[in-house]
Amino acid sequence: MTEPTPIPELLEELFTEADLRIADYMKANDGEADGFVASDFVAVHETLARLVAAGIPLGGSFCEWGSGFGVVAMIANHHGFDAHGIELQGDLVEAAEELSNDFDLEAIFVAGTFIPPEAKAREQADRFLWDDTGAADGHEALGVEIGEWDVVFAYPWPGEAWVVESVFEQGAASGALLITYEDGQGVRVREKMESGELRELDMEKQG
Ligand SMILES: C[S@@+](CC[C@H](N)C(=O)[O-])C[C@H]1O[C@@H](n2cnc3c(N)ncnc32)[C@H](O)[C@@H]1O
Repeated sequence: MTEPTPIPELLEELFTEADLRIADYMKANDGEADGFVASDFVAVHETLARLVAAGIPLGGSFCEWGSGFGVVAMIANHHGFDAHGIELQGDLVEAAEELSNDFDLEAIFVAGTFIPPEAKAREQADRFLWDDTGAADGHEALGVEIGEWDVVFAYPWPGEAWVVESVFEQGAASGALLITYEDGQGVRVREKMESGELRELDMEKQG
């Protein structure tokens, strides 16, 4: 087992404040919050820290697909990434912007969907758990193509992981990383190969 990575003070404070604001948000939404559940911020921080230690280029472009409170984009920004988040729900975009500003971080958030209109996954849109009909194209709102992201993070619901993988496989550049947090699987890191396939990286061997 790899030793736990120390958490910088600013991130400790960020996680504490995010937990408080998320608890208030859940209370205000009767505990349901329309599909928003926060991932394990400490585990994601440890993964990013290991990737950075292993030599992943700093200053790269990072996008959190379905960013919720945006904490993962903020962690990435703290690690030196040019970080963004795309989120369907406007109130969560506002909450993420407020949190990022309060911690003097520079993560950028837009309202919209991370699934572009031309995505192959749209052919099976009846299988989407979240109806994104009418949502703006988040990538267009950011003025960024999917192929420009160095790193994408997503915490999909169990039935929705295929959508994230399909959009990433179709649009990401080879060498781009897909980090996912999934219930029961923890944090996974996959790299897009030249063949278009995704290769799992063994995080125990990084850093
Ligand atoms: C399980 S939560 C994860 C939130 C955050 N990424 C985290 O790890 O704490 C998934 C989020 O994705 C958002 N979402 C679902 N489908 C989306 C889509 N097509 N485009 C953008 N956001 C989406 C939901 O509104 C929800 O906030």
